[in-house]
Amino acid sequence: MAFVSSGYNPDKPMENRISDIGPKKYDEFYPPVIAKNKGTWLYHEYIQPGVYYHVAESGDKVFTVRVGGARLMSTTHIREICEIGEKHCDGYVRFTTRNNIEFMVDSEDKIRPLIEDLESRKFAGGSFKFPVGGTGAGITNIVHTQGWIHCHTPATDASGPVKATMDVLFDDFKDHRLPAHLRVSLACCLNMCGAVHCSDIAILGYHRKPPLLDHEYLDKMCEIPLAIAACPTAAIKPSKVEFDGQKVNSVAVKESRCMFCGNCYTMCPSMPLADTEGDGIVIMAGGKVSNRISAPKFSKVVVAFIPNEAPRWPKTTETIKKMVEVYANDANKYERLGEWAERIGWERFFEKCELPFTHHLIDDFRDPAYFTWRQTTQFKF
Ligand code: HEM
Ligand code: HEM
Ligand code: SF4
Ligand code: SF4
Repeated sequence: MAFVSSGYNPDKPMENRISDIGPKKYDEFYPPVIAKNKGTWLYHEYIQPGVYYHVAESGDKVFTVRVGGARLMSTTHIREICEIGEKHCDGYVRFTTRNNIEFMVDSEDKIRPLIEDLESRKFAGGSFKFPVGGTGAGITNIVHTQGWIHCHTPATDASGPVKATMDVLFDDFKDHRLPAHLRVSLACCLNMCGAVHCSDIAILGYHRKPPLLDHEYLDKMCEIPLAIAACPTAAIKPSKVEFDGQKVNSVAVKESRCMFCGNCYTMCPSMPLADTEGDGIVIMAGGKVSNRISAPKFSKVVVAFIPNEAPRWPKTTETIKKMVEVYANDANKYERLGEWAERIGWERFFEKCELPFTHHLIDDFRDPAYFTWRQTTQFKF
């Protein structure tokens, strides 16, 4: 398409410039029943998975239908969400903190037509466009990242494994059969954008090879001290290297100290480390954010490596499904996965989930590693 100006003048870039106006104020977008009853809600109940209502002091009710969202979506899809919002909800709609979509109506008779409309919509390939679910003691949307769609540091994809995993866990998106919420998150590298460090089950992209060193360009592309300071294990030191008959400034990586975090590449474009066979997935488990009963927890590494198996990641999804089933059968009501694992003991968790325990899972990072070892004779055979 030929260039169409928005009115911006590149010759006077600061003229008519608007800045620091912030987001729109949230209450501009409240449905009337929410605006009216804000701050006066009394209680809420589930009608079915994905569908619940809140009752206010005034007696007003707001019914909410939650549907899955792929997070990455086209404007065509957003227009369809708007069309549904206009048809059933006077033009109002919201997105949740886990990227589900919620449609709200102010009377009970409007729910069934809304649900039927949502569940009837499918893509040409057969997938549901707006599956109703994601509430209560089930599995809601997977908080995830950019993957091979847009980031330059991933060790795995995001959208692909998330689709594969949600397909396997779909029944639990539409059900409340679990002992408690089970949050699944994914991050494609250990920058851990998102929630992998605090989720019941986490999928994490992992490298297994040290960075390559592009000596020709390293000193031109990188602020060398930053790359050195980026390394958590001090594997990097400055060095003079012979390149094309000339001495150039570069770095040296002590490979036995490198644990493939990729942090140096984040700082220095001349230290790439992505690798088809080397890269894959680590599974973590047992994290939570809420303060309910037990304090918030970090998730722990339980599977050291699963290869990337695009496009469906069968070993990853099979491992997660197994963990979910064992937890569903074994945990007590209200018990989050991490609470369950800690109550029965991690040695039992590995046994029940049939996960091999390898030396990779034993913490070896600095002084705090010591506190993750067992300083007691209390354990089960
Ligand atoms: C007195 C009023 C309210 C209180 C005290 C309240 C409290 C809470 C709390 C404690 C959570 C859990 C947050 C977390 O796990 O981090 C939550 C989540 C939620 N609330 Fe409310 N809430 C209120 C009103 C409402 C209303 C009016 C709606 C919708 C009409 C609503 C919709 C939701 C949804 C959808 C979530 C789950 C978000 C997600 O994880 O996707 N709440 N609320
Ligand atoms: C003795 C009092 C209460 C108990 C024992 C209780 C218990 C619970 C439990 C067990 C959950 C599930 C949390 C999870 O699985 O992580 C929950 C969720 C929630 N509670 Fe309460 N609660 C109480 C009072 C309240 C009150 C007073 C409000 C609001 C006025 C409230 C609002 C919520 C909300 C919004 C959620 C999240 C629902 C969802 O998004 O699925 N709770 N509560
Ligand atoms: S987790 Fe890593 S690879 Fe994924 S989006 Fe964040 S920085 Fe990029
Ligand atoms: S990948 Fe991580 S551990 Fe290895 S050299 Fe780079 S910063 Fe250090």
